[in-house]
Amino acid sequence: MSHAHRFFAFLMLFLVFSTEGAVYGHYSAHCQFSSYDGHDAVFLEQVYFNKLLLMQYNSSVGKAVGYTKTAQELADKFNSDESFISHQEWKISLCKSNAPQVYNVPLDLVEPDVWLRSVKVADSRHPAMLICSVYNFYPKQIRVMWLRDGKEATSDVTSTEELPDGNWFYQIHSYLEFTPKPGEKISCVVEHASLMEPKVYDWDPLPDTGMNKIIIGVAGMLLGLVFSVAGLSYYKKKTSGRVVVPTTEAGVYV
Ligand SMILES: *[C@@H]1O[C@H](CO)[C@@H](O)[C@H](O)[C@H]1NC(C)=O
Repeated sequence: MSHAHRFFAFLMLFLVFSTEGAVYGHYSAHCQFSSYDGHDAVFLEQVYFNKLLLMQYNSSVGKAVGYTKTAQELADKFNSDESFISHQEWKISLCKSNAPQVYNVPLDLVEPDVWLRSVKVADSRHPAMLICSVYNFYPKQIRVMWLRDGKEATSDVTSTEELPDGNWFYQIHSYLEFTPKPGEKISCVVEHASLMEPKVYDWDPLPDTGMNKIIIGVAGMLLGLVFSVAGLSYYKKKTSGRVVVPTTEAGVYV
């Protein structure tokens, strides 16, 4: 039996003898890595009693460490044991070699929906505020930032937390208070695991939708009205000149 197994046995034995005293222990093993090939994997084993960390093995440290006198004595015993060390090395290699498979597990990445809009604000140094609302993304980790003429804006920026929708998805809202400057380009940038590269949403102060269409429509209608009224009054003038009996009808003049 290897020392690593004795490690477990030690834990279980202690539990059996300590149930009357209600001492609860647990052991955990973690393989932590952030590269696809697992080359940076760290293997971590921890032993707790009554939620107190008594001993741990961290592969970056390369030895067991105890946090009480007895635990340290035990850790020293493990560390001087070659079979313990070689067994730990085997577990670290397992941790590293399994990393790519873990990475290949399909992750449910869901791309966010982004809505960029402006609102007027009272009681602020700045008269305007842009809101970048990011909806329906998974997983939670996300970065939302602002660019002003290509440079990241850090002042006058606030944000909510990532808010769980209760259906696996999250939403987050970032706020930028600003004083509009002609020609300034403002964008909201979203970085998320579902996106191959950060997605940039440019703020368009005069979007060619809604209000603009109404303004153009109303202006066109007014122009048409002006011409028709002018034409009508011109026609009336001309015709009234030929009429012998003056009419009581009032002409419309512009
Ligand atoms: C493991 O050890 C490394 C190096 O000392 C340290 O940076 C890291 O935080 C440790 N990990 C844990 C979970 O304690």
